[in-house]
Amino acid sequence: MSELEKNFNKFKEITREEFFIAKEIKEHLKIKDTDAILDVGCAGGNLSRSLVKDSVNITFLDVNEFDFSPQEKFIHASFEEAEIEDKYDFILTSHVWGHFYRNNSFEFCYRKAHDLLKETGKLIVVHNSNKDFTGKLIDFSKTLFKEIEFDVFLDECLKSETYKEYYFDVNLKAETYGELARLVQVLLVVPDELFYEKVGEMTKYLENNLERPEFSINQRLLVIEK
Ligand SMILES: C[S@@+](CC[C@H](N)C(=O)[O-])C[C@H]1O[C@@H](n2cnc3c(N)ncnc32)[C@H](O)[C@@H]1O
Repeated sequence: MSELEKNFNKFKEITREEFFIAKEIKEHLKIKDTDAILDVGCAGGNLSRSLVKDSVNITFLDVNEFDFSPQEKFIHASFEEAEIEDKYDFILTSHVWGHFYRNNSFEFCYRKAHDLLKETGKLIVVHNSNKDFTGKLIDFSKTLFKEIEFDVFLDECLKSETYKEYYFDVNLKAETYGELARLVQVLLVVPDELFYEKVGEMTKYLENNLERPEFSINQRLLVIEK
């Protein structure tokens, strides 16, 4: 397992991000157990699983392989290439739009998600707003690394849409600045060999800019009608 993967698991554990995202979604949306859900970029699938009683009506999709039980429907493909015939009540896209943006497939994926919704269906988007400290951290990281994969959502897509938006925070808290620097790798998706060359500089930056080894990550939930 790479350090990035280990840090990803630790990041999820510390922030309890999936719990807070699910809480926010449940607060603003009524999802019935009979609703068909497509979870795009599902990773282990915990987020969509936590929205309903059981996973029978969820289709999980990820470009990487994850362990799903034989009863669960997992499409192992990129969203761009996946051939999907069903239509969905909800399409969940949490922390995936930065990947589409970097693949130059943002607009293609946005249209594809819309096309896969039922007439009354809703597209759920969750992404880091990159406001507050996260934005500053990204600006600093651009000076350290040639390429970083921070979360992105292009608001141009929303121009003629009917949608609602909600903001919420999750907290990333470490014991030391060094530990926090390693966890920041998850927000930047920089490969191990490049990230660890600069981890000392990242630690210094965090020490100089935070009172404690912790900061909030502001996120936006968008609920977009078809
Ligand atoms: C940051 S994780 C988000 C996981 C989960 N949705 C969440 O919010 O916790 C991004 C996921 O998107 C997947 N992914 C990246 N590019 C993708 C693509 N083009 N099509 C489908 N999945 C993709 C990655 O493999 C990864 O599991």
